[in-house]
Amino acid sequence: VKVVVVALGKVGLPLATAFAARGHDVVGADIDERVVAAVNAGRAPFPNEPGLEEQLATTPVRATTDTAAAVAQGPELVVAVVPLLVDDAGTPQWEALDAATRAIGAGLQRGTTVALETTVPVGTTRSRFAATLAQASGLRATDDFAVGFSPERISSGSALRDLATYPKIVGGLTPADEDRIAELYEAGLGVEVRRLGSAEAAELSKLVETTYRDVNIALANEFARHADTLGIDIGPVIAAANSQPYSHVHRPGVAVGGHCMPVYPRFYLAGDADARLPGVARDVNEAMPAYAVELLRRQLGGDLTNARVLILGVAYRGGVKETAFSGARPLRDALTQAGATVVASDPLYSDDDLRALGFTPADGAPADGAIVQADHAEYRTLTPHDLPGVRAIVDGRGILDRSAFAAAGVAITGIGTP
Ligand SMILES: NC(=O)c1ccc[n+]([C@@H]2O[C@H](COP(=O)([O-])OP(=O)(O)OC[C@H]3O[C@@H](n4cnc5c(N)ncnc54)[C@H](O)[C@@H]3O)[C@@H](O)[C@H]2O)c1
Repeated sequence: VKVVVVALGKVGLPLATAFAARGHDVVGADIDERVVAAVNAGRAPFPNEPGLEEQLATTPVRATTDTAAAVAQGPELVVAVVPLLVDDAGTPQWEALDAATRAIGAGLQRGTTVALETTVPVGTTRSRFAATLAQASGLRATDDFAVGFSPERISSGSALRDLATYPKIVGGLTPADEDRIAELYEAGLGVEVRRLGSAEAAELSKLVETTYRDVNIALANEFARHADTLGIDIGPVIAAANSQPYSHVHRPGVAVGGHCMPVYPRFYLAGDADARLPGVARDVNEAMPAYAVELLRRQLGGDLTNARVLILGVAYRGGVKETAFSGARPLRDALTQAGATVVASDPLYSDDDLRALGFTPADGAPADGAIVQADHAEYRTLTPHDLPGVRAIVDGRGILDRSAFAAAGVAITGIGTP
């Protein structure tokens, strides 16, 4: 299969290498010259994706900044996975996806199949993506080119494994489009392909899987807050509840971040005016950073004025160099509002990176309190020696070795683990 993957980010690049690893002819297109140069040099442009560097070294992916020219070569399959970004209110910012769609349309040839993988509100593939492709190419969707939706479903940090193991879900504009897309993904990736009958059903499946997780985490967070008031550790309680097959409660935590989980429930809500749970769940999850600050305030004697507080981890989660909707920002803001001086550190970010992101880098001066925001593996072995001066810690991810801190007289609590 000849494939062009448009956008070589944390999703697109692993996908391109997965096609290449199976011997297919793959070209990747990205507007970022540094990304293209790195890929052409056989290097991953971002860290911490197991197997990706090795894969790029053994089965190279050719990369270009010219999407239209790559598509004009007449590949059988074009996959678009340019992220659909949103503003702070969760409203889609269509510019990047539209620009990529127009560039694909500008090169599109009769007989090519185009699949959108970017998570989008239901209806986008038909009314926006296919329509823009048709307009930019002068061709007719379905008659001249097949088009449909196939959600990317991977997690950064396990992208190649996820691509090799999760079923690929596909939905076409028409059954004929869907047949073509299913055939190409089956041949291209060699995984189970599940046909959902329409692009809209495939779009909805992605919103269902992510909204489910957000609502589930919100429920875990409510359980955790209640457990805090009861003085019960919620961890073993959830494990006990989950020890039969009908309970699947996730883990509570200080924040739900990243450009997926906080956003896709909003896409869902935009299409379902009657829905209540996803909106409530968003509110619950967005309140968690302030709750963590409240826990710290109580531990530090009820007042954070002039306290120096260290945020551990600005990445939205451990091991992933991404700060979209990271809990670090609401934590910083809530702490600042409470009168604290806030500093931050993160093993994935330099001091200059931190400053560019709006954080004051920790300089080793003693702090009064700390909040663990991201579950970086490095934090498992932190000791009181690494956090000079710290008297109280809220471990928002349950990753620290508590006994080490407790032994040194540091007050340490978690979310639902008093
Ligand atoms: N990273 C994850 O773990 C993850 C998980 C689930 C879903 N997603 C979703 O996957 C999609 C892709 O996200 P990502 O994590 O790969 O993003 P990313 O930020 O890692 O990469 C995006 C890439 O798109 C490129 N790009 C932007 N505009 C372009 C254009 N017009 N043409 C070509 N390239 C363009 C950028 O240069 C960048 O390299 C999004 O829908 C995202 O929400 C990501």
